[in-house]
This record gives sequence, C-alpha cells and structure tokens, in this order.
Amino acid sequence: MLKIKANNFNLYYNDFHVLKNINIDIEEKKITAIIGPSGCGKSSFLKSINRINDIVEYMRVNGEIIISGQNIYDKRVDVNSVRKNVGMVFQRPNLFPISIYENISFGLKINKIANNKSTIMAIVEESLSSVMLLHDVKDKLYKSALLLTLEQQQRLCIARVLAINPQIILFDEPCSSLDNVATKKIEELIMKLREKYTVVLVTHNMQQAARISNDTAVMICGRIIEFASTEQIFTCPSKKETESYVTGRFMI
Ligand SMILES: Nc1ncnc2c1ncn2[C@@H]1O[C@H](COP(=O)(O)OP(=O)(O)O)[C@@H](O)[C@H]1O
Ligand SMILES: [Mg+2]
Repeated sequence: MLKIKANNFNLYYNDFHVLKNINIDIEEKKITAIIGPSGCGKSSFLKSINRINDIVEYMRVNGEIIISGQNIYDKRVDVNSVRKNVGMVFQRPNLFPISIYENISFGLKINKIANNKSTIMAIVEESLSSVMLLHDVKDKLYKSALLLTLEQQQRLCIARVLAINPQIILFDEPCSSLDNVATKKIEELIMKLREKYTVVLVTHNMQQAARISNDTAVMICGRIIEFASTEQIFTCPSKKETESYVTGRFMI
C-alpha cells in the first residue's frame, strides 16, 4: 500500500533550487532509507514531508506530496494535522529542559490529545514502554530529561512522537550522535516500529541503510537518481553513480 507519494516536487531557498523534480512512492509500514552525500537535500526533503520547512520564510515549493491520498500542500490542508500525523526525530535529541514526563505531556496538551492526569500518565507510560525506556525511568519521571544518556534521550524523543499517535515517522540521521552500541539499539527499535508505522530514514551511514531498510532512494545534488529495494541498490544497482556512491567511490 502506498503511503507517501511525491509528484514532481521542487524546493527552493530563495533562488537556490535544492530539490529537483522529486518523484517517489513510499510504501506503508516499510522502512525507506534516503542516502546521499552531505548537502544534497535529504533533510530538506524530509522536512517537506511534514511541512516543518514552512517556517523558512524564503522557502518555496511546487509539485505535490500526497499522504494517504491527500496533497499536503493543498491550501485547504491544516498544517497542524499534517505535523501530528507525521512525527520527526532529529540528529541530536532535542528535548526540552523539563522533566521526562513533561516532555511527553506537553505535546499531548498542545495537541489536545489528553488533559486529564490519569489519561496522560497512561499515554506517557505506554509510549515509554514502546521505546523500551519505561523500566529505566519509571522512578525518575519528574527528573530532568537532560540527565538521561544520549541514547535514552533519543528514545525519549521517539516516545514523544509515538504519544501523538502518528502514522509516519521521519528520522533524520537519528544515530549520528551515538556510539556503535547505542546505534545498534536504536536501529533495533526502528525495525520494531515498522510493524505499526511508515518510516522514512535519512542516513549517511550506508551500512545502516543496508541493515534496516526495505527500500532505498539515492539522492545526489537534489535529485533521486535511483530508487529500488535496498537489496538491489546494494547488490546490483542499475545506475553507475549509485554503484560509485554505495561502494564509496563517489566524489563531489
Ligand atoms: N534554511 C536554509 N536556508 C538556505 N539554504 C539551506 C537551508 N537549509 C539547507 N540549505 C541548503 O540546502 C542544501 C541542502 O541541504 P540539506 O537539505 O540540509 O542537505 P542534507 O540533509 O542532504 O545534508 C545545502 O546546500 C544547504 O546548505
Ligand atoms: Mg541533513
């Protein structure tokens, strides 16, 4: 089942044409990786899928991104509902300097998902449990989130997204501030999330894409030059540039 479709999607920062005619079909409940050199537009594309790039005043787009059949750039679309439906996890954990509990309850309140104490607590516990963090933090829910390790903080960022009950989760290089052991654990969690969510994962770590994704898009200089099953991209890509990139021979 198709979940996200980009149709001739272009993005500009002022006159700088960053994303060039992006066409991609992202399937439901799969992990789709986007790989490519730094500066090629991966984050810009990801941020276009939940319209958080709208905050850049001099950014403009044309073309369509269709989620569950609706073009999210249609004028009638409520941007808040897009962002609720499409959660995002960033390179570095971006928690607020408040308690673990409040980092999750904050989103529940502003999104009017829950405002009664026992419902909020149930959702906080459920989302912490989904990211396998509840056991570690159940006795310190009211302590600052910033006291957690980086890996735990990244898990909490994921829990905060899950609490809002999205259908799609975007990960922008979620392991780039973590060591190998923590990276492996977060990768295991992302693989588990696939059962319930559609995942789009930007990574510059090709082994990570090869390990955990189902499909892979290769982006170079703002274009998707190849999109196929991850197995095909890493074993018999059809484009020369893909082969050069995944074997580490691509130079820019
Ligand atoms: N807010 C912005 N304003 C102007 N230029 C930007 C902005 N964000 C990114 N860029 C530029 O757009 C290009 C693509 O950036 P980005 O999407 O962050 O690429 P990637 O995530 O692949 O490294 C880069 O040249 C970057 O400098
Ligand atoms: Mg980036």
